Amino acid sequence: MSNKPAYERPSIVRHQMGGLNKFGQDQRSRVLEELDGAPIADLVAQYGSPLFVFSERTLVERYQELEQAFVRRYPRVRIAWSYKTNYLQAICRVFHKLGAWAEVVSPFEYDKAIRGGIPPERIHFNGPFKPDDALARSIDGGSFLHVDGFDEIARIERIAKRLGKTARVAVRVNMSLDGVPSWSRFGLNLESGQAAEAAARIVDGEGMDLVGLHTHIGTFMLDPTSYKIAAGKLARLANDLSTRHRVRLSFIDMGGGFPSRNTLKEQYLDGGQSNPRFSQYAQAISEGLSELEYPAQHLPTLVLETGRALVDEAGSLVTTVEATKRLGDGRRALVLDAGANLLFTAFWYRHDVVPAQEVGGLAEPTVLYGPLCMNIDVLRDSVSLPPLSVGDRLVFRNVGAYNVTQWMQFITLRPAVVMVGRSGEVSVIRRPETVDDINAHEAMPEWLQ
Ligand SMILES: Cc1ncc(COP(=O)(O)O)c(C=O)c1O
Repeated sequence: MSNKPAYERPSIVRHQMGGLNKFGQDQRSRVLEELDGAPIADLVAQYGSPLFVFSERTLVERYQELEQAFVRRYPRVRIAWSYKTNYLQAICRVFHKLGAWAEVVSPFEYDKAIRGGIPPERIHFNGPFKPDDALARSIDGGSFLHVDGFDEIARIERIAKRLGKTARVAVRVNMSLDGVPSWSRFGLNLESGQAAEAAARIVDGEGMDLVGLHTHIGTFMLDPTSYKIAAGKLARLANDLSTRHRVRLSFIDMGGGFPSRNTLKEQYLDGGQSNPRFSQYAQAISEGLSELEYPAQHLPTLVLETGRALVDEAGSLVTTVEATKRLGDGRRALVLDAGANLLFTAFWYRHDVVPAQEVGGLAEPTVLYGPLCMNIDVLRDSVSLPPLSVGDRLVFRNVGAYNVTQWMQFITLRPAVVMVGRSGEVSVIRRPETVDDINAHEAMPEWLQ
């Protein structure tokens, strides 16, 4: 055995000059050694790598920032936590303790909210398909049902009559937004008259109260003006409903869709610096809602189903470098212990990635691969990093939204998730999976035993 260091073929790498990059960011090597005061090295020593770490403080701060931005501009505001964005019980609990209701899109999410202690009358139930038994439970419990189409209205009517109850129904509306692409597959279309027709069908039907209007125009919507247009359109529809049917709505729900501080791959500027803030969306929505012709004391509650913008910044993924490589074209590459199985959002974000320890040497463009034996397992296709070695750690910032709900148990097991509390205490909020967890769902046919 020789002690000679491994040979690495030399390659020519362009030097990165100057202190700022093209986004005006400091490109000298940044280091992140702690998350909310918890040393990353200690977290990994105790809970392993990869590791998702959530900051309770950031969850609370983002929630309060959102709430403040809206209550300053509109008299009645409700935040309904979008379960699909992150339904870990501890995350939901932080928001519910701050007063959030729940927004769910499936029987599974509905049950999660109920088991988390949310009263059924504080649940907004969205989604293109709600099975009959879920409809029956939610009608019985007094949840708000946001209808997606005429078939669903007929089913709600039939089930409500059978139960002898009155369902609290809202119409989910989709609409055109003056050229800004918006989602059209969910709910009923405004311009074609479908949404008004659905409202009339609910008013004329049996066992249903029309109590609200809902829209969710899309996600990571970078233009606050689209919210002004959408809110104005819903306000005018609400005015028509009160003239035509004498219906006074109890809420208008503007859905989610505000961007987090992440950067989309298509964005040139850094999202942390250029994405609009909550106050700009609040201003746009309150201007749109000013078209409501309701007496001030009866203004409908503005419901927000903000998902990613509340939770993204609170989540970090700590990973470890498992191998270093020089690709055939001279690029430097790292193989990490976390990949696309854990970081679904890497498909559309350029995540902020920061070393968790001091690393000397010149930064150079680096490809970050995950551990999966899959060509698509790339977390960053080019990020400027110093020469990290095996065992070094990297932190992916702003990963709290959608990753711990969309992650896949593919090739590897899912790791632990911890939360750093506001007083600095650390607690596991989801334990790492084991082979036993996975095998527990399987069964062996008798003839193979
Ligand atoms: C109906 C509904 N409400 C809220 C959300 C949350 O959206 P976002 O995370 O973009 O805020 C979604 C996400 O798709 C949704 O479909």
